Amino acid sequence: MTEDARHQQRIREQYAPETGALFYRRVMGDGAPAIHYGIYQNTTTPMREATLAATERLLEIASRTAGGLPPRQVLDLGAGPGGPAHHIAARTGAIVTCVDLCEPHNRENESLAAALGLAANIRTWCGSFESLPADWSGRFDLVWSQEAVCHALDPDAVFREAFRVLRPGGALAFSDILLADDADEEMAAAFRMVNAVASFRTATEISACMTRRGFVAVRHEDWSEHLHENFRRMRHQINRHRHELCDAGVHTDLLKRFAASLDQRLSWPTGSILRWVAMTAKKSSMEPETGTQSIKFK
Ligand SMILES: C[S@@+](CC[C@H](N)C(=O)[O-])C[C@H]1O[C@@H](n2cnc3c(N)ncnc32)[C@H](O)[C@@H]1O
Repeated sequence: MTEDARHQQRIREQYAPETGALFYRRVMGDGAPAIHYGIYQNTTTPMREATLAATERLLEIASRTAGGLPPRQVLDLGAGPGGPAHHIAARTGAIVTCVDLCEPHNRENESLAAALGLAANIRTWCGSFESLPADWSGRFDLVWSQEAVCHALDPDAVFREAFRVLRPGGALAFSDILLADDADEEMAAAFRMVNAVASFRTATEISACMTRRGFVAVRHEDWSEHLHENFRRMRHQINRHRHELCDAGVHTDLLKRFAASLDQRLSWPTGSILRWVAMTAKKSSMEPETGTQSIKFK
């Protein structure tokens, strides 16, 4: 098995089993199909309100990046069970193509979309966002992702693909967990022990990667101040749903390891090791030059 295949296997083991899906639905989504962090106004903000606020804020800065034009074709990288995709479709009327490695996520995404009356707006594709279909080039107005790019073995491949599938003038908007600029990768081990993340990158490294791939107007907004509250809420959800999760077959060892991981993260000074960042960029509306230009002198 190649390193790539082994890593993808780890990702599927984390999210795809029924027990994995239930764990994340309870611990991160509070019952909603959202496997991402939330923006908390205060310590009493309901979890669902916070996760929705993060999607809303990302959509707001994505729209600003796109010059206010509503997207018609959106690509969601690592869409999971589809909470953000459904929200984008409902708010903008766009067709959202959802990419995920886990087939059960795609099935759940489709059935939830149908229940919401959004079946015509949601498409799914099972595969890796590091290698998208060749015929998607130039197809999308907005490439979107929440908390999924950190799973990539090769982030450079993700930005190469995102750039390729965007139409000229299209926007990229994603939020993700990144390494603090002056932190040592080893310090983030408490996060990696329960997440299929091979290694973290800093915002500086990711910005450089995006620029190298041709993106312009690369900007970021730091949401790290919300991380502590997210970890605290997840810890609370594990305690609150422990019996239901165990009865459903979630291994007690996972619950213990996850709780220990969260306890360690809670001891970190805010943003000192991991940061939560939203990034946006554009594909220039001028057609890029392809290949080497050769000029014939007469
Ligand atoms: C933390 S979840 C985020 C799900 C969704 N974006 C949300 O906010 O609810 C990460 C998702 O990315 C998917 N994923 C990770 N690596 C992937 C890859 N290389 N290609 C496609 N999907 C991937 C996982 O299967 C998982 O569903």
